[in-house]
Amino acid sequence: MMNSGLYIHIPFCIKKCNYCNFNSFDNINHLMDKYYNTLVQEIQNDKPDVYDTVFIGGGTPTALPLPLLLNIVSIVAKEGCEFTVEVNPATLSANGFMELRQAGVNRISIGLQTAIDSELATLGRIHTFDDFLVCYDNARKAGFNNINIDLMFGLPKQTITDFKYSLERIINLQPEHLSCYCLSIEENTPFQSMQLDLPDEEATRQMYQFCANHLTQNGYHHYEISNFAKPGFECKHNLKYWERKQYYGFGAGAHSLIKQVRFENSADICEYLKGNIKTKTVLSEKDIKNEYIFLGLRKTNGIDLTDYKLTFRQDFLQEHKEQISKYIEYCSVRDNRFFLTLDGLTVSNTIIADFLE
Ligand SMILES: C[S@@+](CC[C@H](N)C(=O)[O-])C[C@H]1O[C@@H](n2cnc3c(N)ncnc32)[C@H](O)[C@@H]1O
Ligand code: SF4
Repeated sequence: MMNSGLYIHIPFCIKKCNYCNFNSFDNINHLMDKYYNTLVQEIQNDKPDVYDTVFIGGGTPTALPLPLLLNIVSIVAKEGCEFTVEVNPATLSANGFMELRQAGVNRISIGLQTAIDSELATLGRIHTFDDFLVCYDNARKAGFNNINIDLMFGLPKQTITDFKYSLERIINLQPEHLSCYCLSIEENTPFQSMQLDLPDEEATRQMYQFCANHLTQNGYHHYEISNFAKPGFECKHNLKYWERKQYYGFGAGAHSLIKQVRFENSADICEYLKGNIKTKTVLSEKDIKNEYIFLGLRKTNGIDLTDYKLTFRQDFLQEHKEQISKYIEYCSVRDNRFFLTLDGLTVSNTIIADFLE
């Protein structure tokens, strides 16, 4: 039987950041108990027997009172699972880390964003870089040997020198995994309505390429557009999304992919609390192919051409020969895989859109 992944969504945050339009809120704490009860019920009803990754994300899972978070962990913890919890600095004590570790969590993902305090303030983060250092140290002391750090680049007023400084501070800590995202200005966020002095496209491109080259030189495997890992520490859970493996999502707005059928919980917390009716979408062959290409080309090893032929009964290179000749300098074929080069990944949004039907 196929090993699935479990995703559990916690939609609470201490304070909403200025750039974030994730399904998370800082003004619904009165719904915490009810949300917890609905979520636990949903997990107990629908959890599959066989799974090997769990990811509790948000929002800020550590915005929940620790006993509630530990109860959720205890319902799904299992020997041999990759078990990640997202942590926001300044939301979990040293003891909290120990308890999570003892309960079976073995991977921590810390949202840092930048090592420069003035940039953290602009982003509306609730912590300083020193708070993050304490958090990271507590995670290590509790025995976590698989830690991810989230960073962002392309921040207001950020220069390449600023970004290099943040990256260097992080590399010095030697986390096993780094996610480096380009800031995107999202709808319905404070950043959308602010006059921001953003770095231009060329500066952002240089930051991305510096990041990828520098992390590679420092022993990190660049395995997805925004993700880097020490060998063997690639995130097994996120790979399930990119490889369209089976996963079950629990909580408001969570998605599942079960036997190629997509299920979606209401993202509206009140709707979710009313009865959690999942919307079911049977994907067409065209939908599946578009997802396969869109997600596959995000990975640096791209698309397996044999698997593509087995799945869709077509030859990928033949089928996309026009796009390939248009973007010939941005793509490559090796070991029977088609993938985008680093220059291609840098402008991947445009390229990938052209490969979709
Ligand atoms: C759910 S959050 C991480 C956990 C935790 N809530 C925190 O912020 O510390 C996932 C990550 O997505 C990234 N992110 C969120 N909004 C973004 C945006 N508008 N542009 C780029 N990256 C973004 C941030 O790096 C963030 O840490
Ligand atoms: S980035 Fe993280 S902490 Fe900030 S609002 Fe979004 S989910 Fe919450």
